[in-house]
Amino acid sequence: MTTSLTDVGLYTEGGHRDLWAWLRQNEPVRWEPLPSRPGEGFWAVTRYADVERVLRDSDTFTSEQGTLVNLLGKGDPAAGRQLAATDPPQHDRLRLPLNEALHTRAIGSLEPDVRAGVRRLLEPGLDGGPFDFAAAMRRLPMIAMTPLLGLPEGDTDELIRLVSMCNAEEDPDHQIGGDVQETLKHGHRELFAYFTDLIRDRRRRPTDDVIGLMLAARVDGEPFSVSSIISNCYSMLLGASGTLPHVPTAAVAHLAPIGGYRAWAADRDQLGNGIEEALRWATPASNFMRYTRRSVVMHGVSIPSGSPVVAYLGSANFDPDVFVDPERFDVARSPNRHLGFGVGRHYCVGSHLARFVLRILFQEMFASIDDVTVVEPVVRFQSTFLNGIKQLTVVASPTDRALRQAGA
Ligand code: HEM
Repeated sequence: MTTSLTDVGLYTEGGHRDLWAWLRQNEPVRWEPLPSRPGEGFWAVTRYADVERVLRDSDTFTSEQGTLVNLLGKGDPAAGRQLAATDPPQHDRLRLPLNEALHTRAIGSLEPDVRAGVRRLLEPGLDGGPFDFAAAMRRLPMIAMTPLLGLPEGDTDELIRLVSMCNAEEDPDHQIGGDVQETLKHGHRELFAYFTDLIRDRRRRPTDDVIGLMLAARVDGEPFSVSSIISNCYSMLLGASGTLPHVPTAAVAHLAPIGGYRAWAADRDQLGNGIEEALRWATPASNFMRYTRRSVVMHGVSIPSGSPVVAYLGSANFDPDVFVDPERFDVARSPNRHLGFGVGRHYCVGSHLARFVLRILFQEMFASIDDVTVVEPVVRFQSTFLNGIKQLTVVASPTDRALRQAGA
């Protein structure tokens, strides 16, 4: 198959899953040239076992030269300071305080705020009229990130705009002057400037949120550098905002037209398993990059030292060698060893928070919405990284409880 993994149109039209299936079967390690930069490219791996190997084996595959394809050939200026771009042992030191701050115990206190925020997001959809579910879900991560990082409420819209420039820079809706690189640079610059100001302020007026925790933390007796705190705030905001919205949108877009939403909503025992299946199905961050530290042979293909290797998590999550009937959204699937949060040392540090928010979201959806009808064609993001839906117009059928509450 000649279609390229770098062709953004493939993802917009939804043909990427067919290409992944073909590659898993016929070309599990493929050299993928970059059309915009002659002579450059990356090795793509699409099978579950290979994706797992690349992500787990940080001795062979380093994260310190960038983990996103848009950094290919440029290196990562955040290496050694930002969690995602740092190898062990420094990675483990950086991760410890974030792990604690984002652990289940620490985030439990956010529940009332998150639940109230989720209800506010769903409310406009309960009047029986068309409702852009994807637009509502874009605000979901900020419901948790605002109290977690102690961000001013009024900054939400601007932060969502800047994050979209960094996560889906290929999408024309977010571009500056139609230029992908300029869009990325602008988003990065503005977000770094935002957190620089915020942290300067926090040093004068300490708080007990995650930024306060990072400012107070000591790693081997040394404080975190300010640049490291800025970089990690950026990473958390992007990590949360780029991914969370696409789990419920992918689930609703697929399940609603086949009666699956109504069935899942009526089967509360499958809340947890269904959320894991939605994470597998959506795999919002569809690929991550590493560089080889030494030459490696995979499936008889020799990959030289210093080469970029891109692991397609999205493809791994549909690998029939691991998932029975992978093209079926099975809310009861168990076990479900999906790689939606990655695997190994860089396993998503926000996974507890993500599961916590998704649980509240689906509880509230099932309590207030019996069924959903998709009433307009679904519009997908134009991105080779972010697997997500930009517009999902639905009409929701409120539950009796929601109708009673509206009446009251
Ligand atoms: C459904 C939601 C989410 C998905 C699907 C997701 C996915 C991922 C994946 C696949 C990785 C591994 C990257 C790699 O191996 O290079 C990762 C790492 C990371 N995620 Fe998430 N994420 C989600 C939510 C969040 C949230 C809510 C936060 C912040 C609070 C967050 C912050 C991070 C950070 C900082 C890392 C780097 C961890 C490390 O390198 O040790 N993510 N995420």
